[in-house]
Amino acid sequence: MSMIPDDKVNEVRERASILEVVSDYVSLRKSGANYQGICPFHGEKTGSFNVNPARGIFHCFGCGVGGNAISFIMKIEGLTFPEAVKFLAKRVGVTIEDRPRTASEKRQSDERELLYRINEQAARFYRRLLLSDPAAEAGRAYLERRGVDAATAEAYGIGFAPDKWDSLTRHLEQQRVPMDLAEKLGLVKRREGSVRHYDTFRNRLLFVIADMHGRPIGFGGRVLDDSLPKYINSPESPIYHKSEVLFGLNLAKHAMREKENGIIVEGYFDHLALYQAGIRNVVATCGTALTNGHIKLLQRYAKKVYTLFDGDSAGKKATLRSMKLFLDEKLPAGVIELPSGDDPDSFLKTKGAAAFADHLAKARPIFEFFFAELLGQFDSGTVEGKVAIIEALAPRLAKIVNPIERELYVKEIARKLGVDLRQLQRKIGRGAITAADLAPRKERSAPRRANGPEETLLALMGKYPGVIRRVRQSGPANLFSADLLPVAESIIAQSESHAGIDWALILEQIGSPEERSRLAAIFMDEDRLEEIDAAKAFDQCRMSRDRSQLKDGEVKELKRELARLDSDSERYWEILRKLDTLRNRKSQLL
Ligand code: UTP
Ligand code: MN
Repeated sequence: MSMIPDDKVNEVRERASILEVVSDYVSLRKSGANYQGICPFHGEKTGSFNVNPARGIFHCFGCGVGGNAISFIMKIEGLTFPEAVKFLAKRVGVTIEDRPRTASEKRQSDERELLYRINEQAARFYRRLLLSDPAAEAGRAYLERRGVDAATAEAYGIGFAPDKWDSLTRHLEQQRVPMDLAEKLGLVKRREGSVRHYDTFRNRLLFVIADMHGRPIGFGGRVLDDSLPKYINSPESPIYHKSEVLFGLNLAKHAMREKENGIIVEGYFDHLALYQAGIRNVVATCGTALTNGHIKLLQRYAKKVYTLFDGDSAGKKATLRSMKLFLDEKLPAGVIELPSGDDPDSFLKTKGAAAFADHLAKARPIFEFFFAELLGQFDSGTVEGKVAIIEALAPRLAKIVNPIERELYVKEIARKLGVDLRQLQRKIGRGAITAADLAPRKERSAPRRANGPEETLLALMGKYPGVIRRVRQSGPANLFSADLLPVAESIIAQSESHAGIDWALILEQIGSPEERSRLAAIFMDEDRLEEIDAAKAFDQCRMSRDRSQLKDGEVKELKRELARLDSDSERYWEILRKLDTLRNRKSQLL
């Protein structure tokens, strides 16, 4: 992704109305100076989500997220900063000329654009055939037999490739599509030595594989009978990287975010069956093994995932393989188990959505599932069996990050296997829970309260120009600690420009999302400020700065210097004065 010039980012931020941007996702009601609605980022019923249109910022008092229009889009669409700026630029009509690209960069991105368009053309072509072409009768009959309704087929853009060698080839040639690109996408092929192309997908029902924005990047074609291979899939191409794509993510992302969890299935039809049953927080791996690219993608939307694989040994194996990834990426995972012989599609068809909800509710943590599997696989009544089970468990157990969860498993395992708890703990290597594990973590980035004196003063600066003046006079460095100082300085600098303060910009200058959310909360809460005495907040800040600057070491250091100096020197008196004020202040503080 190329850099976007600052003035373009500014233009986008200025033109994008936070109210309009958020309204696409959240229904908002006016309430005082703010607008309120149900937070799209955490499950809630109350409406803690606030938008302050005057300042161009949002904040949720429930889950703590906050920021400006750009960070809202980043979070809700799962985009990077430049992606979100481009996304908004389109909406507000700002054209972003990429920085002058090198010739080869330009060729590459033009080619990617063309590749998307060719896939779009192919998808439209196949879709149209399925809907109305006499040659697609078999495809329509197949869909009906599988119980797929018209709305679902439409949502997936399902199409049909007729039983011919050249139907897509001819269509693309007529449209003057560069056939070497169609070949790159795997839509058509060419026999060695021949100049003629032929269709890759023939007599197959076609699923469109879309990226998370819904752009077609590949196809999966299923036969209509039992012949093999059951599916033919598009190959990797410049726009399709299998290890980074989850089928159905475009349809699932909002539901995943809302529910804060996602379900992973293996097949196209599994995905479709769940979708049709109204279960939308679902993605499919489509025959490829789960990768950590997939997990990272899921983590953008979900805090927890469930695997929902076939109820056979292959499904179990896939579940267990995925466990290592979940543990490595620290993504909590559960296993939804199906009766053997069922896949999600057949299960929903024969047993219905209520039975599915039941199985979902009974999902077990993946580690528990793993242990149960081992107990079935080895004879835990024998020494060899116990050893084998422990050998398999130990490395994975050690990866469970939550010490309490880990310890509970260790206890459970020791009990079930009848082995000595201490020995098992030693084997796991990470030992029992220590006091340190249980103590609240003292992280440097530990969230600060949003209503400490410095925060209050910042918020007051937002409300009263007079406070900004006073802060400037006393020197912001004497009032704010290192993390909030840049914010205060930024407010001062901006207040001096005639354009006034751009709160959304101030938020954007803050690096970490947590910090940004915290500041949004500070700037949002205007009502609270009515009751605050600015002078008092000011003094409190000053005192707490003094307190932290006032190291005993400093006094000692000064005294040592004093002893070495001549009482005639300028510095001697300077130090005396300094010591005096330090002593005075200290006595005030203590
Ligand atoms: P399944 O055999 O479970 O297919 O393979 P399915 O989607 O459930 O299809 P139905 O219900 O039998 O019609 C799971 C997934 O593995 C990939 C496909 O993505 C499929 O959806 N797969 C399977 C292939 O890519 N090629 C194959 O030959 C078979
Ligand atoms: Mn299946």
